[in-house]
Amino acid sequence: MSSIAKLLEQFLAHPFKNLAAIITAAVTSFFVVRAIYRVTFHPLVRFPGPKLRAISHLPHAFSGERGRQPYDVRELHKKYGPVVRICPNQLSFITPGSWEDIHGHAATKKLLKYGYFKVRPDAQPMLTTSGEEHSRQRSAFAHGFSQRAISEQSPTLTAHVDNLIAMLEQKVKQESVFDVGEWMRFLAFDIIGDFTLNTQFECVKNQRYHPWVALLMKWFRAVSFVTNANAFGQLAPFIMLFAPVEHLKGVKDHLDMSAQKVRERLAIGDDPTRNDLWTYLLRNKGDKALSLGEMEVNAALFIIAATEPLSDVLCGTLYFLALYPEVREKLRAELESCMGSDDALTMANTARSPYLHAVINESMRMYPPIPGGMRRKTPPQGHTISGIEIPPDTVVAVYQLAAFTLPNNFARTDQFIPERWLPADHPERPKDTLGDHQDVFQPFSVGPKNCIGKGLAYAEMKLIIARFACAFDCKVVDDGFAIDKQTAYLFRDRPPLKLEVKMRKVS
Ligand code: HEM
Repeated sequence: MSSIAKLLEQFLAHPFKNLAAIITAAVTSFFVVRAIYRVTFHPLVRFPGPKLRAISHLPHAFSGERGRQPYDVRELHKKYGPVVRICPNQLSFITPGSWEDIHGHAATKKLLKYGYFKVRPDAQPMLTTSGEEHSRQRSAFAHGFSQRAISEQSPTLTAHVDNLIAMLEQKVKQESVFDVGEWMRFLAFDIIGDFTLNTQFECVKNQRYHPWVALLMKWFRAVSFVTNANAFGQLAPFIMLFAPVEHLKGVKDHLDMSAQKVRERLAIGDDPTRNDLWTYLLRNKGDKALSLGEMEVNAALFIIAATEPLSDVLCGTLYFLALYPEVREKLRAELESCMGSDDALTMANTARSPYLHAVINESMRMYPPIPGGMRRKTPPQGHTISGIEIPPDTVVAVYQLAAFTLPNNFARTDQFIPERWLPADHPERPKDTLGDHQDVFQPFSVGPKNCIGKGLAYAEMKLIIARFACAFDCKVVDDGFAIDKQTAYLFRDRPPLKLEVKMRKVS
């Protein structure tokens, strides 16, 4: 009794000092006990991975902050195999079948998106919705992205590409070495501004970014910061205090400006002289019609979703064509045979070139525009992925860079071999690539939430690459674009793609 009284006396003598000591001890014990639990009794303990990653989210979050997450996850797969515990509650898969088991139709009914956040309190774009709401929005936009709608975009798309080629012809007369990547981004913005926002950004014409485009760069950084902050669960609001305010403001400005443009487009209504996304969307009436807020946030999403990945693929493909002149020659020969009586490269005839398709796919394999993973959370009853029972509430993803570039799935993985995408019975298909797990290559994802713009993206990429490859010769001048040294946040943080570009010499 007297010793308790003594302790109390000591405590009361320095109440704050002792309280701080007690809190410190309690917090430390909590972290120690939790760390021990995570490496002993946690349901994911049977999955391989570094102990530090099993204990804490910090290594993954720091890797994300450095822009090296996809590369670091690839290193982990090299060391630990096709399924790795990359965080206390997160697994990365590169197994055949994992796409279907995580993102396919049946899986989408059970697994929820994880780590996506709401951009506006009153309305969400289709990317962040689920269930009925997602299906309703997706079907409202489906006609606007149908094959027919894409074909109807041909004149607009061709005009933008003609403009680019004409501007580049002028450019190469003045200087031969320049950042081709910048031009690809100019073009991607011009096309998508026209199609989704009824806006002429005129980046190619003015040879500089529209001020709006600069905002989007801030958006990408802000989204990456929020995604990493969310990994810390209840600590996320505290971490958000350190979010770069300027970047968050970029998000808000982009939303406001997209909303303004949508309202201007809606005021025009069903204009027979225009044929853009809204031409189709406005045909949805009654229950099928979207609210104004939904239209506004989706317009903001399209600009983001359609430009960065697309210009990344264009840059990746031009980089490989510059590195591999023999591939470029072969591609030109096939494109010229596809032209036929049109005597010009069009959206229709470039769609018929299997080698062009193969070149673009091989570029996306080696240089995926979304190199990280799109996360989903397993339901309370757990879930089976690639035949493996996964516990409830586990965050799962296929990390694209690792899945597409490790020998688990592809032969001669470091080599640029477009022929691996030709049909199995094609005489030029290398025999050692017949065992490639091509179903692991899903840069547009699979299932009901895959990329709605996949058809449009291929049509754009094929026309642009075909026209560029037939008009210009190019050479890589330095190692500034070395693909493994790059960083990636939500999308790639692409360095300049400096090429020496000359008018093509036709022999
Ligand atoms: C090479 C170019 C592109 C790539 C690699 C790509 C890739 C993807 C991927 C992987 C997703 C799934 C995202 C997730 O599950 O979180 C996605 C979704 C989406 N993409 Fe693309 N994309 C490209 C171009 C485009 C274009 C041109 C558009 C058109 C405007 C577009 C619009 C969208 C939209 C709206 C979604 C959300 C779909 C939904 O939630 O139902 N993308 N994209």
